Amino acid sequence: MDVLKLMKQRSTTRHYTNKPISQTALKKILEAGIWGPALHHFQPWKFVIIKNVALIKKINRMVEKKLEDINTPTFLLYPTIKTMANSKLLICVYNTKDFTGIIERFNKEYFKKAELAEISAIAAAIQNMLLEAENLGIGTCWLDMPLFCREEINKLLKIKDEMVAVLTLGYPLSKGKRSPRKKNTVVTIS
Ligand SMILES: Cc1cc2nc3c(=O)[nH]c(=O)nc-3n(C[C@H](O)[C@H](O)[C@H](O)COP(=O)(O)O)c2cc1C
Repeated sequence: MDVLKLMKQRSTTRHYTNKPISQTALKKILEAGIWGPALHHFQPWKFVIIKNVALIKKINRMVEKKLEDINTPTFLLYPTIKTMANSKLLICVYNTKDFTGIIERFNKEYFKKAELAEISAIAAAIQNMLLEAENLGIGTCWLDMPLFCREEINKLLKIKDEMVAVLTLGYPLSKGKRSPRKKNTVVTIS
């Protein structure tokens, strides 16, 4: 498929059918992630897959409680919770800090740049996965609100890396509408 067409066609999906995601489809989505651009050949990502719906619901309840405890505005809390509640599969995305782990001993400024580069590479891997999912007719939502609860989630999953995102996946029951694109976001210097 035309990649630009695919990018425009993708939209955040918050309502999913009960159809499970096959292992073949999941494998392709993860493959798209790991083939993202890797800064200086480092591939600082780790993907933790959760298919167990009871576990998804448990994580969702933990996130909901945490977001309520910290008085998260409802317009941020409910879309997150409702999307996760009916999702069929989660991909928890982690930063293994392979790059910053080495850059750590250099100066602070360099470390800050390395940190940004590492997160950027992981974001590119996430976008690859969203696009491959779209290509397979699978809906996704990229969530960062669960990060407020990342220590608790890590404890539950017995993971030590730093969580940077949670992706919800499922076959779309309905699709979201894209917002119009902002104008004047490109500056050409000649
Ligand atoms: C970095 C990032 C973090 C996001 N975090 C959340 C979130 O925590 N909760 C949520 O409901 N949606 C979240 N979203 C989804 C956005 O709300 C969604 O992308 C937006 O509504 C635009 O929709 P579109 O992807 O169809 O353009 C996030 C998206 C991005 C890119």
